[in-house]
Amino acid sequence: MTSASTTRTLEHVISSEQFDREILDDIFARADRLAGHRDTRLAGRIMATLFYEPSTRTRLSFESAMLRLGGSVMGTEAAREFSSVIKGETLEDTIRMVSSYADVIVLRHDQAGAAARAAAVASVPVVNAGDGPGEHPTQALLDLYTIRSERGTADGVHIAFCGDLRFGRTVHSLVQLLSLHPGVRMSFVAPEVVQVGADLLARMAAAGVVFQLTDRLDDVISSVDVVYQTRVQKERFTDLVDFEAARRAIRIDAEVMRALPPNAIVMHPLPRVDEIATEVDSDPRAAYFRQARNGVAVRMAVLDLLLG
Ligand code: CP
Repeated sequence: MTSASTTRTLEHVISSEQFDREILDDIFARADRLAGHRDTRLAGRIMATLFYEPSTRTRLSFESAMLRLGGSVMGTEAAREFSSVIKGETLEDTIRMVSSYADVIVLRHDQAGAAARAAAVASVPVVNAGDGPGEHPTQALLDLYTIRSERGTADGVHIAFCGDLRFGRTVHSLVQLLSLHPGVRMSFVAPEVVQVGADLLARMAAAGVVFQLTDRLDDVISSVDVVYQTRVQKERFTDLVDFEAARRAIRIDAEVMRALPPNAIVMHPLPRVDEIATEVDSDPRAAYFRQARNGVAVRMAVLDLLLG
């Protein structure tokens, strides 16, 4: 199998703002070809995973992706405790060092902007695997890939983003990718305390995206194509009263599913806590485990693009 050709490539993957339709089509064509596939195209290449925040899906799917392409992996899953950060080393110094040991660095950090700081000093590609409440661009790629796989196209979809839209970095990244698609409508469904930020709304308005804000899922559920539910991120709240007010506000259960159109899907970047009842899991419209599975093929495509 040969790599797809593209007229453009990426040096780092830091923000969804880097993508256009041409490069998205390239990544998704690679993912289609690489899904379920194993080869040795990245033999001899090393991926370092530096995770300063916990992860199950992102770290392990990146590692699976690299291994399936014949590469090797190393890293630390608790970089704050088990790297020289504990001795006071800066992120920049750590990245300079790891650039000498690996051919690509996959970084998860608790501060927005950390991946951009890393890329500024790295001599190898840096992939943002989530930077605090900032962005999570490879999650957005697999989310968009899932919408296209499940529905044929993302053009014209009505998507309801629900839950924690303030701290939810996957939302921040997916909104930007969807804004590249004509006819998309976005409903931001959240209580005020976790509603989406004014900056992102201003960018959507400038891009000509049609959107509305509401705190009631009932207002939109019967007209949506995609429900994108998210966990309210307790770890990012300084005031637990605000957290408690937010966490119970929007929940997907069997009653909500009865109002959802038959061809619609429910997505969630996972992990979930209780914002989607487990009774929903057996509904064929529950796409979140298929979505997580798509992470391997999409991350194979990203590694192939960066290193192939
Ligand atoms: N969706 C996601 O980023 O999951 P992890 O935190 O498990 O990586």
